[in-house]
Amino acid sequence: AARTRDHLRSPIICILGHVDTGKTKILDRIRRTNVQDAEAGGITQQIGATYFPIEAVKKEATKIEEGKKLLYNVPSLLIIDTPGHESFTNLRSRGSSLCDIAILVVDIMHGLEPQTRESIDLLKMRKTPFIVALNKIDRMYDWKAQPHNCPTRASLEKQPSHVREEFFRRVKETKLQLAEIGFNTELYWENKDVRKTVSLVPTSAITGEGMPDLLMLLMALPQRLLTERLMFTDVLEATVLEVKVIEGLGTTIDIVLTGGTIHEGDTIMVVGLDGPIVTTIRALLTPHPMKEMRVKGQYLHHKQIKAAQGIKISADGLEKAVAGTQLMVVEDANDEEEMEYVREEVMKD
Ligand code: GTP
Ligand code: MG
Ligand code: NA
Repeated sequence: AARTRDHLRSPIICILGHVDTGKTKILDRIRRTNVQDAEAGGITQQIGATYFPIEAVKKEATKIEEGKKLLYNVPSLLIIDTPGHESFTNLRSRGSSLCDIAILVVDIMHGLEPQTRESIDLLKMRKTPFIVALNKIDRMYDWKAQPHNCPTRASLEKQPSHVREEFFRRVKETKLQLAEIGFNTELYWENKDVRKTVSLVPTSAITGEGMPDLLMLLMALPQRLLTERLMFTDVLEATVLEVKVIEGLGTTIDIVLTGGTIHEGDTIMVVGLDGPIVTTIRALLTPHPMKEMRVKGQYLHHKQIKAAQGIKISADGLEKAVAGTQLMVVEDANDEEEMEYVREEVMKD
């Protein structure tokens, strides 16, 4: 099928930043879930994936004027949560390698921290466009929280002048820190050129302030910069995120499908500890919309799934599969030439 502007895949968005800046809590606020409360020590230790249907995104994003002018022409947003703890550099790297754009979360009370800088280096290396969420605005002294996921500017207007002063002082400090490492930044409503200047969006994951603004920017940025990249292609691209034993399913793999379409019954090849594993997809599963892939729950069964999506695959022989590697589909398992080619491709990692 020809690649066209009328057939776009879901953008993949990765959320990166220093530990405890509120990455998971922001997703919880948008999903209306409590994933973060259930994490051991409140620390994320895995990559997660959540599918946000476009209608849910539109409902929030159109609370602001800029959001009313956008096209809602992708099936969904696929958001990848990553750990901020310093020991998980490999997972941040994996997450950032999968995404089209990123949200870099900075605690407005702390400014840039070590893993903020590490995350920026990853994004720089891959030339990934990103926005910065200045989170925890509600922590500023005397902040008057506004209800119902209030857009940021509406909330700022309601703050007493000394709170607004503190806000602008902190924004300025973070802008200076980002300028020192080579990034021009502006509060998003003052940003005239998203190609040259990174947008800042003030948020609170606890009060919900700024959530409409954040979702609006996640729709706007790909539309301005990435339409070409998001045109749907038939070329299958998928990465194994996790290998997990699930009661009733045996060993499964969680993958992110970044391109193409995958089907129940497809023959797949993945990297194994003792060499390539060839197996047949028994079940293609996803969590429900707005539910996190890494949380145990009820799965939806599918006959086929189009990119981009986080998927759990159940199949025989996955016990020794290796996370972080490519998955490929084999067209014809009896074709020795093809098998050899796929084997080489898969084992490249
Ligand atoms: P890691 O994944 O472990 O790196 O952390 P994280 O960035 O996902 O942060 P997390 O969502 O675990 O939040 C860390 C702590 O900050 C929790 O106690 C949250 O309740 C709190 N928190 C997150 N966002 C906000 C916010 O906007 N305001 C306030 N006051 N607290 C927040
Ligand atoms: Mg987290
Ligand atoms: Na945390």
